[in-house]
Amino acid sequence: MRKKKKSHARERQAARAVIVLAAGLGKRMRSSLPKVLHEVGGRPLLFHVLGEIHRVFPDAEIALVVGHGREMIQKAVHETAPFSRQKITFIHQAEQRGTGHAARCAMDSVWGEARVSERASVLVLPGDLPLVTAELIRRVHEPLGSGESFRLLSCEMPDPTGYGRVIRKNPKGRTGKPGAIQRIVEERDADARAKRIREVATSIYSFDSAFLQSALRKLSSDNSQGEFYLTDVIEQAAKGRKKSSSLLWPDAQELRGVNDPWELAQAGRILNERTLRNWATARGVKFVDPWNTRVDVTVELDEGVVVGPGACLSGSTRVEKGATLGPNVVLHDVRVGPGARVMAGTVAHQAEIGAEAQVGPYAHLRPESVVGARAKIGNFVELKKTRIGEHTSVAHLSYLGDAEVGRNVNIGCGFVTCNFDGRIIDGQRKHRTIIEDEVFLGSDCQAVAPVRIGRGAYIASGSTITEDVEAEALAIARSRQVTKPGYARRLRQRG
Ligand code: UD1
Ligand code: CA
Repeated sequence: MRKKKKSHARERQAARAVIVLAAGLGKRMRSSLPKVLHEVGGRPLLFHVLGEIHRVFPDAEIALVVGHGREMIQKAVHETAPFSRQKITFIHQAEQRGTGHAARCAMDSVWGEARVSERASVLVLPGDLPLVTAELIRRVHEPLGSGESFRLLSCEMPDPTGYGRVIRKNPKGRTGKPGAIQRIVEERDADARAKRIREVATSIYSFDSAFLQSALRKLSSDNSQGEFYLTDVIEQAAKGRKKSSSLLWPDAQELRGVNDPWELAQAGRILNERTLRNWATARGVKFVDPWNTRVDVTVELDEGVVVGPGACLSGSTRVEKGATLGPNVVLHDVRVGPGARVMAGTVAHQAEIGAEAQVGPYAHLRPESVVGARAKIGNFVELKKTRIGEHTSVAHLSYLGDAEVGRNVNIGCGFVTCNFDGRIIDGQRKHRTIIEDEVFLGSDCQAVAPVRIGRGAYIASGSTITEDVEAEALAIARSRQVTKPGYARRLRQRG
């Protein structure tokens, strides 16, 4: 009997509730895209927040307050793991009447009623703080003390402009501890004295659900913006002598909000540095110039990888053990095999580079290109929808589109697959070129697709191949050379 009670208590503790505020358009972004869908580090702002919640409370009951672009947000959440599996209830805030009104929409809904009847505590988080960490969320949302109405998270901002300031009874405190919180004043409503305060409200709180629901219903919009401020709930609590506490977070960077494109860029820079440091310390990845290298949070790097200055790695890119990326390499959704070398200026999108292959400098791998192990793709080579077999070399100045190239093939300088004849047949625009294993193609050849060059065939330089070549054959498809002795001198003499 006793045992049962205990486990029940634990269950109650585990049920966490979170309201994420994401209904605003974010006017200051000057964009039609809802603010929380703007990306930093390759991910929408909102997904950074949901991702960190997921890390600490994977089973949290989340109320996501949406308004502007809500279909877009809903679609993005439904299409992205692990958020598609999180328990998310979308709350529609039809009119954006302030953060207090947004939280009220959640607390007055069926979702909110359920939280009140469970006597849950509710974490409130804005969707525009992409730098918050799982640890911060865990600390703020530790169970409230008995009889406590809320826990407020604050921090000291070096430049507090734009944030709500925390007004305390006795800022320094007689005992050296800061005095009780009286209220929060928004920048626009702050006088000169309040503006000097560096302790700011972060918009992150843990509330007792019953207190929050009743306090939100009493809010007024009597302020410079005519909005219902969530921050005013704090003043209400202070006036009603409610028990509360505050947590001063030491790392103000984690609490930087994104309200305009400049703040978006700043958050991107901080996040990027965090990502790079993590790969460097956890996996021993070497960044030659971390201040000039971009790595999205969605990218994976293995041990011993070296990344040159100016590299930009994004999407689902994964660079495996010991691979090196030269300066200004741009990779999006690319897999780089172990020990591969991708040299300066190479751009690849949705491609695969095999183990110990060498690519670049200045190669362009377009979608659905696969470079085999130990193959070599040299400078000014473009691949599109093309497979290159193991140990094959395409060393200079070539275009291969819709091609299948076998192993140990040598493709000379200046090869071009002529894959488009200007017509669309049966919905197909492009024709395929097949080059089997061990083929040798001299320099300056073209293959007019569809065409197949059989295993071990030899194609003479300067050939335009329009017909299939059988295995082991030699094909020469160029006009014979005519040399006329002395003819040049005669031409000159003619004047
Ligand atoms: C808010 C706080 C401020 C705090 C700062 C920290 C208030 C009144 N101000 O200001 O004290 O220092 O965050 O970053 O709370 N939202 C809605 N519906 C609305 C209005 C806003 O869902 O009607 C959402 C927004 O989408 C956004 C979040 O609430 O994600 C915060 O709103 P925002 O307008 O950015 O507030 P701040 O001015 O940054
Ligand atoms: Ca904000």
